[in-house]
Amino acid sequence: MSEHTYTPKSKFGKWFNDRLPLLSLASHLTDYPTPKNLNYWWTFGGILTFCLLSQIITGLVLAMHYVAHADLAFNSVEHIMRDVNYGWLIRYIHSNGASMFFLAVYIHIFRSLFYGSYKSPREIIWILGMIIYLLMMATAFMGYVLPWGQMSFWGATVITNLFSAIPLFGESITTWLWGGYSVDNPTLTRFFSLHYLFPFLILGLVILHIWALHVPGNNNPIGIDVKKPSKDTVPFHPYITIKDLFALLIFLIIFSGFIFFAPNVLGHSDNYIQANPLVTPKHIVPEWYLLPFYAILRSVPDKLGGVILMFGSIFILMALPWLDSSKVRSSVFRPLNKIFFWVLVIDVLALGYVGAMPAEGLYLVVARVGTLYYFAHFLVILPLLSRIEKTQPLPLSITEPVLTGMPKVEFIKSDKPDV
Ligand code: HEM
Repeated sequence: MSEHTYTPKSKFGKWFNDRLPLLSLASHLTDYPTPKNLNYWWTFGGILTFCLLSQIITGLVLAMHYVAHADLAFNSVEHIMRDVNYGWLIRYIHSNGASMFFLAVYIHIFRSLFYGSYKSPREIIWILGMIIYLLMMATAFMGYVLPWGQMSFWGATVITNLFSAIPLFGESITTWLWGGYSVDNPTLTRFFSLHYLFPFLILGLVILHIWALHVPGNNNPIGIDVKKPSKDTVPFHPYITIKDLFALLIFLIIFSGFIFFAPNVLGHSDNYIQANPLVTPKHIVPEWYLLPFYAILRSVPDKLGGVILMFGSIFILMALPWLDSSKVRSSVFRPLNKIFFWVLVIDVLALGYVGAMPAEGLYLVVARVGTLYYFAHFLVILPLLSRIEKTQPLPLSITEPVLTGMPKVEFIKSDKPDV
């Protein structure tokens, strides 16, 4: 780290930095050597940082006007939309921001899957990422309950009821979560409290995530280690900062499209009806970003089985660095892994689609096959590929493919018969 080498120019700077090395930290962050072949899929970490800060800031303002009480919550949201200056804008940034946050995190996760960023020595970065992702899901779920519309209430009822499937203690756990005998005011107030807390926990974990990243440094599209820092890397500032900012600008244009032209397209119209425990909506569906998990949950006829599979589908990802033991990181040099990666993408999209449909007929069949494939991908295909796949020869260094094209043609040709 550059703490040891950096010396501030001014006298005051030196005095301050000797006592609290913030300037050294800033210098480390700007000089941080970054592989020079990073593509635009690497800009999503920065975009995610923006999303988190945007959610925290807009959330703080919303909390100034929102009332966490079952009798008042729904109307307080309408008050924000109609009476509070730019309340509609703050609310739409926050609600659509959640969707954009998940869009970015899915791209970030699938980028890591394709380029093998979860492999040694980056396992801790990956596991911290998974914990962040779990917390994101919990935060979004609880946030969706706060407007106290029909989907808020019934979504909360369905999901909290899942805990009752736990043998012996299930009923007691559910009652404890609710703070009563059904989803009601105590449930709403505790969800608000936790929804306020979790983003700050996520922020702390993001700091650890980036800290852990700065130990080995970034992976890169060809997945080989930096050999000569002077040749293979560029300083983070200005090269990566400008690229990240450009990507953020494009992201913000899409984000604005939702906010200003289709602010409710990702939500459910039933959530503009106040919660009513006596009227159950026809289809209870979660937000789009939770749909694949919802499909897995409903693919099993047994409640406990569904709950185990749903949580299993997330926890299995934590074990990924050990399930996939191939020495080659990037799928660019793993012809079979590349194909199965895309099959997984299609599988997750299909699960998302059937998650929004009624759990019957063909939809249920697709959900079951999709769930089976999901688990087979991680438990059977990846471990098998790690052993049998014939990978292509790796370039000698990062600089070589950057300067001479990806990768040398003779390499691919000579390798083809063995693949
Ligand atoms: C609030 C959410 C998150 C934020 C703010 C965040 C931030 C970042 C940043 C700034 C980077 C470096 C730039 C980049 O590679 O794009 C990074 C890298 C990484 N992140 Fe995240 N991340 C988040 C969530 C996740 C999740 C959910 C996962 C996976 C489960 C994950 C896995 C990784 C991995 C493996 C890397 C190393 C990338 C590489 O060098 O190839 N992150 N993250």
